[in-house]
Amino acid sequence: PAIPVLTIDGPSGSGKGTVSRLVARALGWHYLDSGALYRAVGVAAGWAGLDLDDAGALVRCAFDTDIAFREAADGELRVLVNGHDATDELRTETAGAAASAIAAIPEVRAALRDRQRAFRQPPGLVADGRDMGTVIFPDARFKVFLTASAEERAERRYKQLKDKGVSVTLAGLLREILARDARDASRAVAPLRPAEDAVRIDTTGLPIAAVVERVLALLPARR
Ligand code: C5P
Repeated sequence: PAIPVLTIDGPSGSGKGTVSRLVARALGWHYLDSGALYRAVGVAAGWAGLDLDDAGALVRCAFDTDIAFREAADGELRVLVNGHDATDELRTETAGAAASAIAAIPEVRAALRDRQRAFRQPPGLVADGRDMGTVIFPDARFKVFLTASAEERAERRYKQLKDKGVSVTLAGLLREILARDARDASRAVAPLRPAEDAVRIDTTGLPIAAVVERVLALLPARR
């Protein structure tokens, strides 16, 4: 039988990253942070001084960039881009915006497709992103779509960044989140939308642990 996949899609700040990691750990499954791949290509393009309008160069960059995930001693997932630890740089809004811009290019998405599918390894995979359930793993056995109000998502990002000592304003973050949502939802290829067979969970006002419980409850073995 096919290796089981649980896809967790949703907009930025919906909690999908944290929830996906915790669910993967609880299940002992592999974890794919697909957004990190787009962010990594965006950051590598920046390092190379590429123009975000030069689709051809960006596609080559998507094929050529070496991206590796490594679990640090503290259990945190570090991302190596062309051999450099770029974990912190990947988390910035600049990297998110670059990722969102290059993610709208169909050939860039195609360049990353097989790399994402290669994460499907026994005993199973939790895949986090925008099009995991619709495009990359349409045959996934379990699909979840997480949402939350834009205000709450901005507040979550604000807390995360403040804890890291990054100086941002809540209003600025809300603006960036709304702009990124609009771009992700309106692009022609793989727009952000729930798969028809996805279970939707609104996480507004829900603690992470409660979301994790609800997701785990979808898996028969856990019922
Ligand atoms: O999830 P994260 O915020 O890290 O994703 C960064 C950007 O990468 C998103 O705004 C989106 O444009 C793009 N992305 C995508 N498809 C995915 C994951 C991320 O287009 N599966």
